[in-house]
Amino acid sequence: MHRRTFLLGGGLATAGAVVGYKSFNTPSIDMADLATREHLRFPNIIDASITGKIPLRAQAGNTEFYKGIPSKTLGFNQDYLGPVVKLRNGDYQADVTNTTDQPISVHWHGLIIPGSADGGPHQVVQPGQNWRPEFEIKQAPSTPWFHTHVHGQTASGVYAGLAGGMIISDGLDDQRGLPSNYGVDDLYLILQDKTFDASGRMIYRPGMDSMMHGFSGDSIIVNGQMNTVANVPKGIVRMRLLNGANARVFSLSFSDNRPMHLIATDGGYLDKPKDLSELRLAPGERAEILVDFADGNPAMLTSLPDANSGMGGMMGRFQKFANKVGTPFEVLSFAVTRQSPINITKIPDDLGGTMPDLNKSDVMTNRKFSLEMEMGHGMKSGGMMGSAMAINGRSFDMSRIDIEAKVGKLEKWKITAPLLAHPFHIHGAIFQVISENGNAPRAENTGWKDTVLVNQGAEILVQFNQPTDENSPFMYHCHILEHEDQGMMGQFTVL
Ligand code: C2O
Ligand code: CU
Ligand code: CU
Repeated sequence: MHRRTFLLGGGLATAGAVVGYKSFNTPSIDMADLATREHLRFPNIIDASITGKIPLRAQAGNTEFYKGIPSKTLGFNQDYLGPVVKLRNGDYQADVTNTTDQPISVHWHGLIIPGSADGGPHQVVQPGQNWRPEFEIKQAPSTPWFHTHVHGQTASGVYAGLAGGMIISDGLDDQRGLPSNYGVDDLYLILQDKTFDASGRMIYRPGMDSMMHGFSGDSIIVNGQMNTVANVPKGIVRMRLLNGANARVFSLSFSDNRPMHLIATDGGYLDKPKDLSELRLAPGERAEILVDFADGNPAMLTSLPDANSGMGGMMGRFQKFANKVGTPFEVLSFAVTRQSPINITKIPDDLGGTMPDLNKSDVMTNRKFSLEMEMGHGMKSGGMMGSAMAINGRSFDMSRIDIEAKVGKLEKWKITAPLLAHPFHIHGAIFQVISENGNAPRAENTGWKDTVLVNQGAEILVQFNQPTDENSPFMYHCHILEHEDQGMMGQFTVL
């Protein structure tokens, strides 16, 4: 068994395992090693824009992350993860069947649709049951996703595999000069981290520390696969990056420092590409980038260690995010192949997206959210973390509505996160980040967002246009799934 994606030293090395130490130094590309790897596969596409139907069947299965060693996993229509559902604006009916032995839900993270179809904790699909919401999609082209959202079981459910992708397209990417050949130059990349036991089986056993920081794995998987290489054409490649990890914040860059041209955030296209040398992507967030492979050289996408994890992260997190501390490790390698057709050879200047530009003077309501972790709570209550996670002093309660918003009214939310950086997500809307710690938002946060990493403080402007009542309230929460499950979540109506 080869463990080439090993991230942590020491304790995880096991007898008989061949441990790769490559990731302890700045990783470099080993061509001989790349040649031995399997090619990255991309999720199956369901083109729902043709039928108007989204059939999803939650099922149990086995996945060989390590060859010949099956791990028990969950997925939609397959053993692990789900398809990428392709959509256009229009009317849809989802048909969700739960064939697993546990309750699930399907929350459409990034779809701006009414609460009754949102798939949050109030719309649980019990084993053997069926859920058939109807909704209209009417929003900008973007890369949403879907995942289970049962309160208290979101972390374990997503970790097991209950998540999938979506693409909203308007069919105009050729006009924009953007790659759109799925799996060839338009790559859907679901980034996750997993922990494996000594025999190579995936395990989820969050201890005290991972309940506090969120569960981080020791190995990176992309689209459910380990140690692969993605083949790309000798031209411009689009990557739809989705952070589907429970807790890990990726700080991405290429090992040869080639630029990442950011073209879209959670809510859709920017007005024009923004060149980044580093891209930070927190759980729940998506970013689309263009990367130029015209030089024909292989490239390695790397990440710095998560500044949020471990005690060091707790103490020095703010500095670590700012100073980029730690040694990068491999996320995914790319090899240029002559077999792939070259469609796009230049980065477009104009993407035609609308940058958020909400008018502060229209703000009707100001709200404050403090994301809280009760340190030491665990000790006091005999080792159980219980409800140490809260927002404004209150842990999530299914029967309590925390906020009543009004349709069409602009709100300003000030979110603070003193101890750890928390990815703050709101259902049913997209928002504008207006400041981070008093400064202008960093590049990744200048477009429309539905999730923002709050590293101490952030202010956002949000307008709710989708109504929902107390039977199916929208959620706002930390997207570190262990935090969410422990109560760092609230709910609101829009009336
Ligand atoms: Cu991606 Cu409330 O979740
Ligand atoms: Cu969501
Ligand atoms: Cu959190």
